[in-house]
Amino acid sequence: MNFFLETLQVILLSFWYNLESLIYLVVPRKKKNISGELVLITGAGSGIGRLMAQEFAALGAVLVLWDINEEGMKETVRLLKSSGASRVHHFVCDCSDKKEVYRVAEQVKREVGDISILVNNAGIVTGKKFMDSPDSLIEKTMEVNTMAHFWTYKAFLPAMIANNHGHLVSIASSAGLIGVNGLADYCASKFAAVGFAESVGLELLATGKDGIKTTIVCPYFINTGMFDGCQSKWPRLLPILNAEAVAKKIVHAVLTDQVFLLLPKSMYFIAGLKNIMSTKQGLLLGGYLGAFNLMDTFRGRSKKQE
Ligand SMILES: NC(=O)c1ccc[n+]([C@@H]2O[C@H](COP(=O)([O-])OP(=O)(O)OC[C@H]3O[C@@H](n4cnc5c(N)ncnc54)[C@H](O)[C@@H]3O)[C@@H](O)[C@H]2O)c1
Repeated sequence: MNFFLETLQVILLSFWYNLESLIYLVVPRKKKNISGELVLITGAGSGIGRLMAQEFAALGAVLVLWDINEEGMKETVRLLKSSGASRVHHFVCDCSDKKEVYRVAEQVKREVGDISILVNNAGIVTGKKFMDSPDSLIEKTMEVNTMAHFWTYKAFLPAMIANNHGHLVSIASSAGLIGVNGLADYCASKFAAVGFAESVGLELLATGKDGIKTTIVCPYFINTGMFDGCQSKWPRLLPILNAEAVAKKIVHAVLTDQVFLLLPKSMYFIAGLKNIMSTKQGLLLGGYLGAFNLMDTFRGRSKKQE
């Protein structure tokens, strides 16, 4: 195709895709049926992992739960069973340990079957300034929040590729789009998780595996306890998110094959601005939004809550 024709085609399709997005603001998108699909959720022993498990179970999915915290996971299983879910499997797995991820993944494939929806949700936060963070915690953060995604993809993608069917869900963070003072290792791990999921998603598309979808989730603070103590300077603009609502929105994004889900909605605007503003203006806006003091009051989850 010559330059003129290809440029014209891109302009017309761009116009159509934008119009399509506008139409979808008022017309609900078609939801896919996930009844009987095998959904694996890492970090399902608390927080949004547990809540997403409840949402997926209500849609008839078979649940495979992973967590390092057996007690929390058993509580998730109890809650699922008490609300009528019968097809629930749980495995203790330390996602920071590559060998353990591969070993438990083999066990899942043998005992339950091939995973078709993989939700990489397990996550930890150090909550210290970079120079105060022990090396061991920095390494652990990268292992749980990023490297575990590599190993779970390696374990479960082959079956998805063979069937050209599946969904990869990465629970990243708005801290994977914008750097935050006091969250250096966490931000690094979440930026990496976003880049990894986006790149593999493109790799799958480029190789014709368009039946495997990707959803990358970037929420602001959620009231699960992980970031207890942190406050929003302007809660109307950037509210602390409700965990139940977040879990519902993530599952909706999966059902409608949405690639990026940023929460709250204002995050789309803030993330977009970050890339087009001058550095000085960016710092001004960051200060206005309280971004430089977000972690000043961080306590994190108390042991009792765990
Ligand atoms: N809470 C927030 O404000 C917030 C905001 C943005 C993104 N996120 C992300 O959402 C995800 C879920 O967070 P949450 O708020 O539900 O936190 P949470 O602490 O309630 O849940 C995290 C779960 O991961 C598990 N986990 C930790 N290390 C593990 C390991 N090595 N192997 C297996 N499981 C492990 C924990 O036991 C826990 O059950 C995380 O990836 C987090 O980074 C959270």
